[in-house]
Amino acid sequence: MNCLTVFCVLVLVLSLLSLHRLLQSLSSVRSRKLPLPPGSMGWPYIGETFQLYSQNPNFFFASKVKKYGSILKTHILGCPCVMISSPEAAKLVLVTRDSLFKPTFPASKERMLGKQAIFFHQGEYHSKLRKLVLRAFKPESIKNIVSDIESIAIGSLKSWEGQLINTFQEMKTYAFNVALLSILGKDDVLYREDLKRFYYILEKGYNSMPINLPGTLFNKSMKARKELAQILAKILLTRRQTEQNHHDLLGSFMGDKEGLTNEQIADNIIGVIFAARDTTASVLTWIVKYLVENPSVHQAVVEEQEAIVREKSDEDKVLTWADTKKMPITSRVIQETLRVASILSFTFREAVEDVEFEGYLIPKGWKVLPVFRNIHHSPDNFPEPDKFDPSRFKVAPKPNTFLPFGNGTHSCPGNELAKLEILVLLHHLTTKYRWSVVGPHSGIQYGPFALPQNGLPIHLSLK
Ligand code: HEM
Ligand SMILES: *[C@@H]1O[C@H](CO)[C@@H](O)[C@H](O)[C@H]1NC(C)=O
Ligand SMILES: *[C@@H]1O[C@H](CO)[C@@H](O)[C@H](O)[C@H]1NC(C)=O
Repeated sequence: MNCLTVFCVLVLVLSLLSLHRLLQSLSSVRSRKLPLPPGSMGWPYIGETFQLYSQNPNFFFASKVKKYGSILKTHILGCPCVMISSPEAAKLVLVTRDSLFKPTFPASKERMLGKQAIFFHQGEYHSKLRKLVLRAFKPESIKNIVSDIESIAIGSLKSWEGQLINTFQEMKTYAFNVALLSILGKDDVLYREDLKRFYYILEKGYNSMPINLPGTLFNKSMKARKELAQILAKILLTRRQTEQNHHDLLGSFMGDKEGLTNEQIADNIIGVIFAARDTTASVLTWIVKYLVENPSVHQAVVEEQEAIVREKSDEDKVLTWADTKKMPITSRVIQETLRVASILSFTFREAVEDVEFEGYLIPKGWKVLPVFRNIHHSPDNFPEPDKFDPSRFKVAPKPNTFLPFGNGTHSCPGNELAKLEILVLLHHLTTKYRWSVVGPHSGIQYGPFALPQNGLPIHLSLK
């Protein structure tokens, strides 16, 4: 063998060796056993669902984070899942790597809301729907309905005057009426009562066992769903015949060139009512409670709102979009309520493939829960997190530390409307009325989201 051959063989051997190394290291990236996040899985089927829905959510989540850190594993609703509680992780799941985490809901909820509703989709169909929803709820569109929302608010408050009311129930009716206004405009008066009646039957079945036999709650609620779809089909038909332009959500869905089917429209309208009503109503209920518990905050809100009343001339008494932009103190009360109450403690996603995060494996098929409540209650993000202090929002929160409306492609398209209808109601509530809580109210009722005890019964009277 001459020198050259030895050299060549050496090179060959070396490169084979390094190729082997390379292959080895590549495959070890794939099969390297990354550890699962720390945590306890509870009982296999029910897992820790029972605790989640029966304990103080602050306690349930906070004690876990204390024990295991900001990424941990558990079992909820029969599924293994990873709970994440850091702004960085929320950003990864909801924004930067959102395509690896698809939205997911229990099948029975999907059937009840309608399979074609916006929440359940990703990709092209989702972005088309989202564009249509945003078109109806963007500031330039909802600017035009401020005075109609105001009429609904004034009417609601009048009907509560001198009464003992269940705040949450009444706020649900208010939020339902505002939702219908934004979806169907004012020409649904004919159908409003029917829509309300069937929607209430539908929602009763929402948390029932998904057993579709005659007489079960689930069966009744599926029937109500069909009735709702039929009413919506009637409204659609009338609109198509009269060929007028409407600037509400239904108009947006109908006007699209690509053309949605009646079924797709019905699923999405029922879905938007679902997304809009109890969320907004529960935020309003918490605000009413926090104002009672924080008299100096209440006083500051009253002064801000009275200044707006004083500024208006006698002819021009109706509230405008511009007025709602002159309510910084009241707006911070809304923000602080969204933070402290964190009515949506978390949202659900599912990993579509194995994902590595901060040295841990999030296995394909596992649920991933960004826990907004923990992010909002971490002293790293909000000093003295349990204190109700609206002034903390004088400084804008850091990215992904304040996510009451989520973030990324599925973030809440109704957030401007929600804030608007809350401001309008608070304007009239705080300038004209006084209220006191009746019965015990320090308690909290735990369910899919936390509410003041008994829906916060109050007695409301004119000032
Ligand atoms: C204060 C009240 C509200 C809160 C706290 C709230 C919160 C949220 C959150 C956190 C999400 C994102 C969920 C996720 O990423 O998985 C969301 C989505 C959504 N919200 Fe809201 N929401 C409120 C009011 C409303 C209103 C008034 C409407 C409609 C008028 C609405 C319509 C929707 C819709 C359609 C989605 C789904 C968006 C999508 O999947 O692309 N929400 N909401
Ligand atoms: C109610 O249950 C019956 C019997 O299982 C079934 O035939 C019917 O389709 C159900 N109704 C709805 C609306 O799903
Ligand atoms: C959503 O995420 C983006 C990208 O990280 C960030 O710039 C933005 O501030 C986040 N939004 C909120 C409400 O935190």
